[in-house]
Amino acid sequence: MTSSNNPRRVMLLTGASRGIGHATVKRFSAAGWRVITCSRHGFPENCPWEMGPEDHLQVDLADPQDTLRAIAEVKGRLDNEGGCLHALVNNAGISPKAAGGARLSALNTPYEDWIHVFHVNFFASIILARGLVDELTRARGSIVNVTSIAGSRVHPFAGAAYSTSKAALAALTREMAADFGPLGVRVNAISPGEIDTSILSPGTEKLVEQIPLRRLGTPDEVAKAIYFLCTEASSYVSGAELHINGGQHV
Ligand SMILES: NC(=O)c1ccc[n+]([C@@H]2O[C@H](COP(=O)([O-])OP(=O)(O)OC[C@H]3O[C@@H](n4cnc5c(N)ncnc54)[C@H](OP(=O)(O)O)[C@@H]3O)[C@@H](O)[C@H]2O)c1
Repeated sequence: MTSSNNPRRVMLLTGASRGIGHATVKRFSAAGWRVITCSRHGFPENCPWEMGPEDHLQVDLADPQDTLRAIAEVKGRLDNEGGCLHALVNNAGISPKAAGGARLSALNTPYEDWIHVFHVNFFASIILARGLVDELTRARGSIVNVTSIAGSRVHPFAGAAYSTSKAALAALTREMAADFGPLGVRVNAISPGEIDTSILSPGTEKLVEQIPLRRLGTPDEVAKAIYFLCTEASSYVSGAELHINGGQHV
């Protein structure tokens, strides 16, 4: 649903500067959405979509105070939109590695890394959703949390903090679907497998041999699923976690 005096839909997307987020902003802007993007860095030159620099917000989602500042800023930017937010996509994520790119296990992940990973991958999602609940409710909007195949099994490269943060985010999606549903806000997750972005580790090509579709996914294939979950085609879908992994989870 859109506000009566403004037919344009608006999305807030975290982690838009590359990878899956970048493909997502391209897909939604091509469909006429206004996309407010956020990440730590300023907007790159040669923005491939209109309004990119103006609609970008620099925020460090590892810092709860900075996330709250960003929420206030987003609210201001939605004034011209009748205070409506049609989609919140919690896509920003980090997957730190040990020296030399080694996997950080449950035994050797430093405490500071657990905290950092959980702030970006988990806490920021609920801080943003709670902070923008009025705007989402007004628009009868949709939230998509980006989890991971690593949230449901031990992964050869993804570390223990990353994987548990994604498992927590999957559980949070269930809780949020129950709590936001009565407000008319749908909450779902997408769980990518091996998608061709900079987050992948060397050696992923060996994993691909085990994937039924025998190839990496593309960022746009993930963006298409996010689009589905934010639009009318999925109007009765809430509390779902959609696997986008070429059958890797079977
Ligand atoms: N690629 C895969 O195969 C795969 C598989 C499963 C799940 N995922 C999940 O999909 C999502 C996107 O992954 P990707 O591969 O596209 O990752 P990516 O290429 O590494 O991009 C990560 C994005 O998050 C932003 N970001 C990182 N830390 C941030 C912080 N503290 N505050 C604000 N923004 C921050 C980055 O922007 P800045 O650097 O400008 O801050 C960047 O835009 C992640 O949640 C990831 O866990 C990916």
